[in-house]
Amino acid sequence: MRLQDKHGRFITDLRVSITDRCNYKCVYCRTGNEGAQYSELPFADYLRLVGIFVGLGIEKVRLTGGEPLLRNGLVDFVRDLSAMRTLDGQKLDLAITTNGHLLSELVQPLKDAGLRRATVSMDAVDAEKFARITRVPNGYDSVLAGIRAAKREGLEPVKVNCVLLRGFNEDQIVEFARFSREEGVVVRFIEFMPLEEDRVWSPHVVVSMDEILEKLNQFRPVRQLPNELSETARRYTFDDGKGEIGIIAPVSHPFCGHCSRVRLTSDGKIRTCLFSLLDHDMAGRMYRGASDSELTDYVRSVVDQKEARHHIGEAGFIKPSRSMVHIGG
Ligand code: 5AD
Repeated sequence: MRLQDKHGRFITDLRVSITDRCNYKCVYCRTGNEGAQYSELPFADYLRLVGIFVGLGIEKVRLTGGEPLLRNGLVDFVRDLSAMRTLDGQKLDLAITTNGHLLSELVQPLKDAGLRRATVSMDAVDAEKFARITRVPNGYDSVLAGIRAAKREGLEPVKVNCVLLRGFNEDQIVEFARFSREEGVVVRFIEFMPLEEDRVWSPHVVVSMDEILEKLNQFRPVRQLPNELSETARRYTFDDGKGEIGIIAPVSHPFCGHCSRVRLTSDGKIRTCLFSLLDHDMAGRMYRGASDSELTDYVRSVVDQKEARHHIGEAGFIKPSRSMVHIGG
């Protein structure tokens, strides 16, 4: 039986954080000085945990962090993951989300090891603005090189994630539209969610989907593309079919009803929602000697309890127990 929660959603997508360290300090994510808080497991242990999920019908695995490229041994881990088979005997859809800083050197070995797709976070197409958001000098050129290298290696479609924050980069919407058209990458605008370490979130800071569409339409008329129900992004192109923009709108247009995701944190805990108030210690069970079939039953019982939806913006919303850098995007 494949993984299903009590709301009837099939869970096919696992995100695995392999470190909560990051070499960037983006204003919407981390405080300026805080580092890792949670432990990292040896890759062999992630491999066993992922194997349990795959045995339950997981088909997509996305590696995240922190910043996943900071982990030594990543290429071998990707090679081991790409040897796994889904219940249907297919290869996993193996992807990574990275800030791109180290990507240009690693992309070819990762591709050779079996990585299929890459998503790079980049919140401005302007070096100065980029530095102001990431709080790291001179990162822009490295990230741009990383995006281009991923494209060259054929990790397609290369997706570029941009979190829009009023006062920082809402003026970048049209610039990113141009970037998508010129570079041949999918640009995805993400509404800012209250998942940061500093308490900067407020409804006012969120640049909403409607506002993004309005700006895009002023640049060139947009046309919606079809998408899968479980896909987080609504997809758009322009009147001439050139460029692709995704809008991920968890705040103004939640997609919880079609969520197919579950997360494993770097310390081996299962999180059934970004906004969960607790996590479930799968690694702890493994280290206390649980068998594969006990771990399988455990995953089933945890996934069954997956939250129906998040409560962003509602009265009584409680911030989750971990911030994004410690969960994995
Ligand atoms: N709200 C929305 N997106 C966020 N990300 C990180 N923190 C937040 C937040 N609070 C983005 C990252 C990355 C993706 C995994 O999530 O920029 O691209």
